[in-house]
Amino acid sequence: MTNHVPVIAIDGPSASGKGTVAERVAAALGFHYLDSGALYRLATLNALRRQVPLDDAVPLAGATRELEISFRDGKLWLDGEDVTEAVRTEAVSAATSRVAASPQVREALLERQRLFLRPPGLVADGRDMGSVVFPHAALKVFLTADVGTRAERRHKQLMEKGMCAKMADVVEELRQRDARDSARPVAPLRHYPDALFLDTTALTIDQAVGQVLAWYRERTGN
Ligand code: CDP
Repeated sequence: MTNHVPVIAIDGPSASGKGTVAERVAAALGFHYLDSGALYRLATLNALRRQVPLDDAVPLAGATRELEISFRDGKLWLDGEDVTEAVRTEAVSAATSRVAASPQVREALLERQRLFLRPPGLVADGRDMGSVVFPHAALKVFLTADVGTRAERRHKQLMEKGMCAKMADVVEELRQRDARDSARPVAPLRHYPDALFLDTTALTIDQAVGQVLAWYRERTGN
């Protein structure tokens, strides 16, 4: 029975810090963690490697259903190979945003995402966690920050990985991704009224984590 297992759903745009916040909230509560963006990235890398055309929904969804993946030792595995770095390249990021726009692919990943729901609880991170995948989540948060702040965070991340990027390009890339994710007809990025709004522009990660935990305690008394 997973009906009574609590879910905290954290939706929000790219580079808002939702991944880091979600992971820390999960660690603080001893909950499982779902990085749904990683699933979309794995589905995309798999399709690229198998030369499945990204705009042909039926074979793409078929390949997605058959994905051989696992999350182990803090790494991502595809067909037994460590692809943690490979799924984060710019080429895969750009292709993922196209793949994620397919309703058939989203449907193919739905049950896989729900399998992450196990006691004692789950923190799920992604564009549509509270709106589509876990509509009954005990707490839904829409976590965001203004585009300049998100671009600075992404830029810093890239520099730390030794990758060069111009700030103006990072801002432009984020704007385009926001527009694509918000405009798509399936599972668009949106702040739905049942999600609490958390603007992290002026917050540290610890403050953002503290706020989510405080809301969760208020809601559940835990
Ligand atoms: O945070 P960032 O967008 O850089 O990466 P991500 O969370 O790993 O997501 C990668 C891509 O997957 C994005 O382009 C999203 O549009 C898509 N995605 C989605 O459509 N639905 C989700 N639940 C999670 C990610």
